[in-house]
Amino acid sequence: MPITYNSDCKAFLISTPGMTYAMEVTSLGYLRSTHWGGVVKRAQDLSVKLLSLREGMLTWKDQYASGSISSHERKMAFEKQNEEIAPWGGYMFCEPGVKAVFHDGTRDVVLKYHSHEIDKKENYETLSVTLKDANYPLKVVLHYRIYEGLDIVDRWTVATNEGEEDILLESLQSAAWHLPQGKEYRLSHMSGKWSAEYQIERIQLTQSKVVLDNRSGISNHFATPWFALDYKGQAQEESGKVWFGALHWSGNWKIVAEINEFHQARVVGGINDFDSTWKLAASESFTTPIFTGGYSNAGFGKASRALHDYVNRHLLPHPHAAETRLPVMYNCWSVFEFDINVEQQIKLAKVAADIGCEVFMVDDGWFSTRDDDTSGLGDWWCSPTKFPNGLKPLIDAVKEHGMTFGLWVEPEMVNEQSELFNKHPEWTIYFPTRERTTGRNQLVLNFGRQDVQDWCYDWMDKLLTENDIDWIKWDMNRYISEPGWPDMPKDRQKEIWTRFVHGLYSVYARLRKKHPNVKYINCSSGGGRADFGLFRYTDRLTLTDNGDCLDFLKLWWGYSQFLPPRLPGTGFNNAPSNGINGRSVPFEYRLTKGFFGAMSVGSNFFKSDANELKRSAESIALYKKVRHLVAAGDVYRLVSPYENPCMAMMYAAKDKSQALLLIMTHSMQFYNLLPTVKLQGLDPDTLYKVGDLGTYSGAGLMEKGLAFKYKADYDSRVIFIEKCE
Ligand code: GLA
Repeated sequence: MPITYNSDCKAFLISTPGMTYAMEVTSLGYLRSTHWGGVVKRAQDLSVKLLSLREGMLTWKDQYASGSISSHERKMAFEKQNEEIAPWGGYMFCEPGVKAVFHDGTRDVVLKYHSHEIDKKENYETLSVTLKDANYPLKVVLHYRIYEGLDIVDRWTVATNEGEEDILLESLQSAAWHLPQGKEYRLSHMSGKWSAEYQIERIQLTQSKVVLDNRSGISNHFATPWFALDYKGQAQEESGKVWFGALHWSGNWKIVAEINEFHQARVVGGINDFDSTWKLAASESFTTPIFTGGYSNAGFGKASRALHDYVNRHLLPHPHAAETRLPVMYNCWSVFEFDINVEQQIKLAKVAADIGCEVFMVDDGWFSTRDDDTSGLGDWWCSPTKFPNGLKPLIDAVKEHGMTFGLWVEPEMVNEQSELFNKHPEWTIYFPTRERTTGRNQLVLNFGRQDVQDWCYDWMDKLLTENDIDWIKWDMNRYISEPGWPDMPKDRQKEIWTRFVHGLYSVYARLRKKHPNVKYINCSSGGGRADFGLFRYTDRLTLTDNGDCLDFLKLWWGYSQFLPPRLPGTGFNNAPSNGINGRSVPFEYRLTKGFFGAMSVGSNFFKSDANELKRSAESIALYKKVRHLVAAGDVYRLVSPYENPCMAMMYAAKDKSQALLLIMTHSMQFYNLLPTVKLQGLDPDTLYKVGDLGTYSGAGLMEKGLAFKYKADYDSRVIFIEKCE
């Protein structure tokens, strides 16, 4: 029974195979966290007690704990230590999980245990603990959900106004996580910018508060809503204790890591409370996004694998875990940009099909006046010059070649040069007295508005009903500024950030319901919205706009910390140099990159020679033989590009019968050797055929490893490993 309540010690135990999460109700009725970490089976062992070292010698803390000190204030302080959601109220000074203003101006929330419910379903269990304010009609329910076989717990919070007067929520966080006491935690997080997403940073925490957040309206390139903590930097890829989490939110978010004066480390996260409030009217509830947390006793690698399994099995909208055929996609955006037309696309589709591509995607530039990025967004009809007879001739050709068809859209945007903006300038996000800042020449439509959501649903529904479209690439190419909503009452205007995201999710949900077979690519100038929130509705990701194969190594190392390889298109193309850094790398190196994720091709086939087409076709054919490992294998990061002139990763089948080993080097110097590549995730007693390199035991591959000779820059290998019969 993974979730239990022990009424003797008033304690909750949430147990997964390798993790225990525990709470207790204190003598004054507060709910407090007592453990998050390795498995402890006896609830009694976790209750917070302060024992004296020597009989007769009591510290002040011992005395409050035993009740022998009457100071109410100090007893409260002890009772409120590690309060599970920690509202801002009473004698507490940490980052709050709830902050509210009541109708009489009181800004102090006191939440005490009221009741709880445990619910068991076939492959998950939930616990909901209801807390209520002693004097005001605010109910806060803390939710917990665990899944079979995963050291992961989903948490979220629901606040309900049970009274008649409005309550202003100034902050309602998804969860507060308490780690074992200690003052030397190391925080891992991801920073970045456009074309440089998922860059891993590791910082030592001290008694302080570190805020990871974004305020740009989308989950964004600068920071990723993910964290990991380990003690004193002791964790490695495959060893050490790691506490980690990821937020399911595509808008402004905040994750605060703090260590207090008693060396208590905690992490609080959810919707960013900056410039954000929510008016909770009588009987209304507000539900926060989910904050998924987990614990690994075997390093960052095990933490990532838990998140990957979680995403594959429980987050993605399709039953992805069972679906191992990751279709190879063609998209020529990086070589032709807006310069497309129906004849050219039909010709490209023929070659794409010949070399083995399975999806043909038409990117930006197909609609209204869209010849560059200055006009057309908002006017979602075919360009009369580029597609004079609509999309049908192209879609028919694509389908005749046995491929499925995909189309790019950017529904949340409008160009000032468009019919839509002329008709509905009030649909954008703006302050009437301020200039509207454009980004990539476009403004953001206010998806918080119901009329904007309905407009978007209607034209997308029509597009999908009238055309045989299998994939939609849904893009979002700027951040949100001047966050005004003039038509909204003043006391609700700061709800715009949250309502925008709710509106976006709602349009996705309606479209998915009406067109259940259409799949979506999550794109935001590359990976600007790579968050768990959007993956409830989307099936694939544009990893980045950066096609540079060397930059890819670090992008992939970071990305794979929290999301699985099956999602991003990992493309290759035949452009001689990549636009971002102007670097040229061998075509074979570019082909190898394709194997890391969902392979995609972006070549200008009009410039391809016979050998390049042959090698592309051979790579695609090989990819089709191994893609089940990319889709469902366990990811092991073997050699880090941060410390070495190469990156090695492997994807091992869960039954340990097969694996894919991928190695990309960059630049050797000083006659150095590459590190020996020690494999993981194999059965030590099984013999494996390692590509054309010979036969080795799993033990040999994992303990001794493989040493490779590399001389040139940008060398790479794709090695298929299989159990010998
Ligand atoms: C963004 C996307 C690209 C491409 C362009 C089209 O930059 O990330 O993949 O779709 O928009 O304008």
